[in-house]
Amino acid sequence: MASYDVIIIGSGPGGYVCAIRCAQLGLKVACVEGRDTLGGTCLNVGCIPSKALLHASHMLHEAEHNFATMGLKGKSPSVDWKQMLTYKQDTVTTNTKGIEFLFKKNKVDWLKGWGSIPEVGKVKVGDDVHEAKNIIVASGSEPASLPGVEVDEKVVVTSTGALELGKVPKRLVVIGAGVIGLELGSVYARLGSEVTVVEFLDAITPGMDAEIQKTFQRTLKKQGLTFVMGAAVQKTDATKTKAKVTYKLRKDDSEHVIDADVVLLATGRKPYTDGLGLEALGVEMTKHGQINVNETWQTNVPGIYAIGDVIEGPMLAHKAEDEGMAAAEQVAGKHGHVNYGVIPGVIYTHPEVANVGATEEMLKEQGRAYKVGKFSFMGNARAKANFAGDGFVKILADKETDRILGAHILGPAAGDLIHEVCVAMEFGASAEDLAMTCHAHPTYSEAVREAALACGDGPIHM
Ligand code: FAD
Ligand code: NAI
Repeated sequence: MASYDVIIIGSGPGGYVCAIRCAQLGLKVACVEGRDTLGGTCLNVGCIPSKALLHASHMLHEAEHNFATMGLKGKSPSVDWKQMLTYKQDTVTTNTKGIEFLFKKNKVDWLKGWGSIPEVGKVKVGDDVHEAKNIIVASGSEPASLPGVEVDEKVVVTSTGALELGKVPKRLVVIGAGVIGLELGSVYARLGSEVTVVEFLDAITPGMDAEIQKTFQRTLKKQGLTFVMGAAVQKTDATKTKAKVTYKLRKDDSEHVIDADVVLLATGRKPYTDGLGLEALGVEMTKHGQINVNETWQTNVPGIYAIGDVIEGPMLAHKAEDEGMAAAEQVAGKHGHVNYGVIPGVIYTHPEVANVGATEEMLKEQGRAYKVGKFSFMGNARAKANFAGDGFVKILADKETDRILGAHILGPAAGDLIHEVCVAMEFGASAEDLAMTCHAHPTYSEAVREAALACGDGPIHM
């Protein structure tokens, strides 16, 4: 039995970042992980493998659609799916090994196995019980299920199965037009699958700016994805090689069936707390099954904290990481802080979609007077040169004070461009502050400046 200042349960972006920060702050720390590798959902079966497949399939798209125009002639590449999966897995391994290296470097003990909390101040891993002054639960999330849809991870898969299919399916049906459905849907569409996305609501990516939703859906349709909107999936009937997906259209209750070789269930994720023993300890949960915490990530049981996907808020790796750092500071007697108003969200399709802060719909609901500055990538020289003129930047600013309230970008490198606005918002900047900042030419980020200019006297290149 060993004794620690902090034991963290789970080594995803929340847990591993928290562990490293605790060690940097001089605490004796261990991290419990039941998987064979560190890094959690994100590194093993989430952010990293999905981005590797998005990158590889985007390269194929470039070769097929744009190389000849740029004077790059030759045989178009064909898909060696096994090799693509090897590339994906190598990327995962490099990253998970990287966390192992960081643990060693920072003297974080990895307690291998599934952990539980038999009593306050104790963590059990296998037969060993360790003592901990503080316990931080970072046990993450798992795919949500849908009644009538039985997942076998071969024909009916969650994102985990979709990242390692035996072959590229001819027909892929995606249930849910959220982030996972659209990212992985576009991977397979680029690799040649006929992709049909069945969505319950009338718009894709719920909660996103409505104008972005519409343009993004139009862009994905142009890329070959088919959408069935306003449709509630009732059930799937699968054999070992195929499936039928039955859905009802909400507008008239009519029932329809589509055939698929693979069905991807992507209707959200839910917090994962199995086997931790939280109920016996009396840890309060929210009505959505998340661990309830206060503003310093403490549960109602003293000495037990929780961070990441297992608590409220967007299920995003960087949100989990920020909470990991902040909770470490709290435990070390400092003042950890996360600004939940400035957490960017990114969809890594091509073009990318990125947002931060309020949408127009939110501001209307709040009755807040605002102005909109918009700029199309068609007016951006770099984007035009790179066949990336689809999309726009939209900045929302307070009508009176000009303070930036939100930004929404559909376009090239949107996931990187958004951070300029995040930093501006952290500093409480006005749209004019962004507009008056010199931006290098020719860069995509000039489109952000032009949108900021559009909040005032107007953009130059539109
Ligand atoms: P997790 O990463 O889920 O890690 C929790 C870890 O705890 C797991 O490894 C689990 O094995 C371990 N664990 C659980 N219980 C125990 C126990 N009792 N004992 C020991 N170990 C335990 N987010 C982004 O921001 N950007 C993206 O591009 C992105 N892409 C994604 C793509 C996919 C396909 C998926 C599924 C998710 C994606 N996400 C993305 C979401 C992101 O992965 C999560 O928000 C993030 O991983 C949450 O981090 P976490 O530390 O809270 O939990
Ligand atoms: P999601 O919440 O993004 O989308 C689920 C979609 O399924 C919604 O549009 C919903 O209306 C729809 N739906 C629900 N029930 C349905 C039904 N019966 N029939 C048809 N449609 C139905 O969830 P998703 O895509 O599974 O992602 C889970 C989480 O993972 C997200 O919260 C996201 O934050 C995270 N993630 C983040 C990524 C990123 O940051 N790039 C990438 C992938 C995942």
